[in-house]
Formats: sequence, structure tokens, C-alpha cells
Amino acid sequence: MEFNKRAELTVTDIVPFGQNAERESYALILEKPQWLDWKAGQFVMVRPCSWTKDITWARPFSICRVTSQSLVLFFQVMGRGTKRMAQLKAGDKVVIWGPLGTHFESDASRPTLLLAGGIGIAPFAGYVDQHEKPSNLSMLFSHRLPIHYYPTDNFSLQIEMESIQEHSAADLATTLEKIKEQMAHIKEQNGLVLACGPMPFLKNIWRNAHELKVDTQISLEQRMACGVGACLGCVATTSETFADKSRAGLPVQTCTKGPVFWTHDLNLDAEGM
Ligand code: FES
Repeated sequence: MEFNKRAELTVTDIVPFGQNAERESYALILEKPQWLDWKAGQFVMVRPCSWTKDITWARPFSICRVTSQSLVLFFQVMGRGTKRMAQLKAGDKVVIWGPLGTHFESDASRPTLLLAGGIGIAPFAGYVDQHEKPSNLSMLFSHRLPIHYYPTDNFSLQIEMESIQEHSAADLATTLEKIKEQMAHIKEQNGLVLACGPMPFLKNIWRNAHELKVDTQISLEQRMACGVGACLGCVATTSETFADKSRAGLPVQTCTKGPVFWTHDLNLDAEGM
């Protein structure tokens, strides 16, 4: 963890997005950190000051947005840590470390297709905010929960967005077909594809990228747990072209080498999923 990137911030709000018996989603709004720079795709480690030794580790979260006043993180309750995060309230203090990790490429001159699966939409909110030419962006968003569970507010006004709610395996097959069609279309335009979502979704995109030879980056952020290289829960295998030659063709931790990778730098077939 880079301790010079540490900041203590005040919670300004926590906004519930959608709740049912199975899932709760929240936007955590923090006072704006004194960052000189950050890029969409990067993440922060977060630890509420109220946590005692029963939860040792901070938790990694993609940066969703940075506005003129706030740092916004988006999360779903998945376990003990996020359940406790959901109990934060305005005025509480949290410690963050960041911005950390690699980021998504941004090229105003190239049509760019954003592929988001479920909560993987979070970093694209900031990506759209930061992009120099949002009219060159389009998004395909596949999700299982109703759309109000996700932070989509700034997309519909700024970019062309298609949203598909999946109810069945047939819907999933349709989504995968559409993804491949749209990736082929972007290839014809010499464009760029960026993706974030669950591993099966990303693996499909990784295969398409190889087959269609389209420039594609994927974020493996959803695999991260400790965020500091200790738990090995986020390991992915690189390809022979990986820039760090000492790690080429070998497993690397997503949290220390990613979370955003070019698809040609990964060998997801080695993951056995
Ligand atoms: S998240 Fe634990 S090693 Fe990367």
C-alpha cells in the first residue's frame, strides 16, 4: 500500500440505489480528496475509522466519479465488510489510499465501446465524465437487477447507451451475440473496446478481442479482495507479450499489476473458467 496516498475523508452521504432480499446497492459520497490526478479504472482502498480489529483489511473499490465536491464510490453488499460499509452515515470518517492501479485508455479520436456487466458499470461513470469527446462513446450495459440498482444517471444524457436486463440463459446468449456484433463494428472503425464486469463476461470479451483483433482493455477489479497483493485471490495469468518480461506468461496479482489490462497481455484460457 502506498502510504503517501493516504487521506482521511468525511462521509457526506450514503445513497441507497436499490434493495431487495438478495442485493443492496449504495453510492458512498466522500469529501473530495486533494488528488492532483486520477484516471478511470483506478481504485482506492477504503477503511472506515470505526472499524476495529475484527475487520483488519481495508477494502478495494473502483473510483466511480470525482465531482467538484466529492469522491463517489459505488458498491453492492457482498459480505461482512460491505455490510458494515452500508451502515456508514454523514459525518463518519474513513481512511482511503489511492488512486491506485492501472487505468483505461482514453483517445478522443477513436470511437470507443464501453462494455459493462452489472456493478462493472461503476468506473465508466468517471470515464464518461473525463472523456474529451463523449459523442465518440457508446455503451452496452448488461445487468441482472433492475436498472435503478446501478449508477447510470450521467450516461443516458451524454452517450449512446443500450441496456439489457438478463432474466434467462436466452437473454445472456442474446447479450453475448450483441457484444460480438458491436466489437466487430468497432473494429471496422479502428476503435477501442473497454470492459468491466464479472469474469465469465470478461472472458467472452477477451476471446472476441483475440478473434476480431480489436484493441481491447478489460478491468479485472471484481476479483480483488485484500487489494494489496497478500491474499492471491486476484491472480491472473499474463501472456508472453506482457510488458514486465520477468512476469510474462506467469500469474500476477491483479491488484498490484492491474486492474486494467490489454487483452493481448492476458491468457485467460489459463484460468480454467
Ligand atoms: S486482492 Fe489480494 S492479492 Fe490481489
